[in-house]
Amino acid sequence: MKPAKLHYWILGCFSMVSCCWCTSDKFPQSDSHPHTWKKLYLAHHWPVTVCKMSANDCQDPPDYWTIHGLWPDKGEECNRTWHFNVTEIKDLMSDMRRYWPDVIHSSPNRTHFWKHEWDKHGTCAATLPILDSEKKYFSKTLELYQHVDLNGVLLKAGIKPGSTYYQMAAIKEVLTKFYGVTPKIQCLAPEEGEKAQTIGQIEFCFTKELKPRNCTEPKGESSRMHTNLQPVTEELSVCNDTLPVYYPSSTKQVNNNPLKSYLGKQF
Ligand SMILES: *[C@@H]1O[C@H](CO)[C@@H](O)[C@H](O)[C@H]1NC(C)=O
Ligand SMILES: *[C@@H]1O[C@H](CO)[C@@H](O)[C@H](O)[C@H]1NC(C)=O
Ligand SMILES: *[C@@H]1O[C@H](CO)[C@@H](O)[C@H](O)[C@H]1NC(C)=O
Ligand SMILES: *[C@@H]1O[C@H](CO)[C@@H](O)[C@H](O)[C@H]1NC(C)=O
Ligand SMILES: *[C@@H]1O[C@H](CO)[C@@H](O)[C@H](O)[C@H]1NC(C)=O
Repeated sequence: MKPAKLHYWILGCFSMVSCCWCTSDKFPQSDSHPHTWKKLYLAHHWPVTVCKMSANDCQDPPDYWTIHGLWPDKGEECNRTWHFNVTEIKDLMSDMRRYWPDVIHSSPNRTHFWKHEWDKHGTCAATLPILDSEKKYFSKTLELYQHVDLNGVLLKAGIKPGSTYYQMAAIKEVLTKFYGVTPKIQCLAPEEGEKAQTIGQIEFCFTKELKPRNCTEPKGESSRMHTNLQPVTEELSVCNDTLPVYYPSSTKQVNNNPLKSYLGKQF
């Protein structure tokens, strides 16, 4: 990690702007009125890139896109009395471990990430009857993930991790054509002296009926108001259409800096 990047990381985490991995994100709450939202983001992240961004050591990140979460476009921590209970999803455990792993915390107890996602987003999604329990929320997310089959679609299109650089437009076009809706694709900005951005997250949007929809708002309807509330992973931002994209493979170990492990303990 270069000093500049480290600096960002520290700033990002300490200001708690939107660190998806921190347990104690503090946001101004408005528990008094219902959080109304109109679309859901199914966020996939690329574990190799997640590891690159994280302060922790990641051992052998999976070489497939895994689930980050299912996020309403508005609201966070909508019901603080609804505590995560891992027993509720014990039937889903093998799929959860495989497709929704806690990429950066390598401890054997992986429930922390799921608790975080439930507390922050699941309790908001739960206003929909189809998502109104832990079991429904996690199983529906797994179902959507399987259905979207991002890994299969990218592979079939010949988009594979490794040393090739892709054009952002090419990746976007493949996905938009296949799915018929526009996803939101996020990257790590190029490091100093580099030209390529690194792909990190791909989000697909769904209506409240769980029908695919564009992540962009229809013309005339501004989404500007919501942009600050959208769950973004620190350092990731919408990819720049004009820059090449690096899709890193997992064969190369990305994290071996002892300082990072040390900082990681502050989570
Ligand atoms: C919040 O969660 C509690 C515990 O599950 C539940 O009894 C209550 O109805 C929920 N409140 C809302 C507004 O959904
Ligand atoms: C957790 O869920 C299980 C299964 O539904 C239930 O038996 C148990 O009482 C719950 N634990 C808590 C603390 O609510
Ligand atoms: C994992 O952590 C949660 C809470 O942080 C705890 O309830 C659970 O018992 C732990 N599970 C294991 C296997 O240690
Ligand atoms: C998504 O956006 C494209 C144009 O950007 C439009 O042609 C299409 O009808 C939209 N699809 C949906 C489901 O709204
Ligand atoms: C995309 O990258 C180009 C070249 O570095 C830059 O000039 C442009 O401002 C960037 N666009 C955005 C939206 O950041």
